[in-house]
Amino acid sequence: MQFNLKAVLIPVALSVVVLSTAYIVNGAPTASDSMQAEEIKKEGGSKPLSAAMKTMGFNFKRSISAKTLDELQGYVDEFHAYAEKAKKAGYSEDPEAFQTGVSELLTGLSSVQDAINAGDLDLAKNRMKALNDIKKQYHGKFDV
Ligand code: HEM
Repeated sequence: MQFNLKAVLIPVALSVVVLSTAYIVNGAPTASDSMQAEEIKKEGGSKPLSAAMKTMGFNFKRSISAKTLDELQGYVDEFHAYAEKAKKAGYSEDPEAFQTGVSELLTGLSSVQDAINAGDLDLAKNRMKALNDIKKQYHGKFDV
């Protein structure tokens, strides 16, 4: 069996060219690349908490322009599920105040649910809007 040097060298040479081009264009990976991802999160925060908050925010916005009780119920259910996820994720910077805040939020949310159950869309939406005050209070407290 003949050893074909070209068949080995050409792919190797091509890979060297491609990899070194990527290295030149992107620069060598540095410690700050992984640190940057960490810096995006506030101290004490976490990816699961941030993801839960984002989904809460999305459902909060949709809920205040809901046109029907059924539509609102869907957003409230998802908001509730993600508020529970946020509660589980916790906030290591100030765990106790965080749990107090999430409990206030969940209590407020159950008053939204009461208004939905009573068939009062406007009251439910107004109570939902009032949750923004709890958000402001705690975001302010934690400077997030
Ligand atoms: C209507 C209620 C709330 C909404 C819509 C909301 C929404 C959000 C959003 C959109 C973020 C930014 C997430 C990101 O981009 O990474 C955030 C961050 C945060 N929120 Fe809320 N929030 C609410 C209530 C609360 C409450 C009651 C607390 C505390 C008890 C709280 C604690 C935090 C913390 C600690 C962060 C920073 C998370 C991190 O950096 O990992 N939020 N929230």
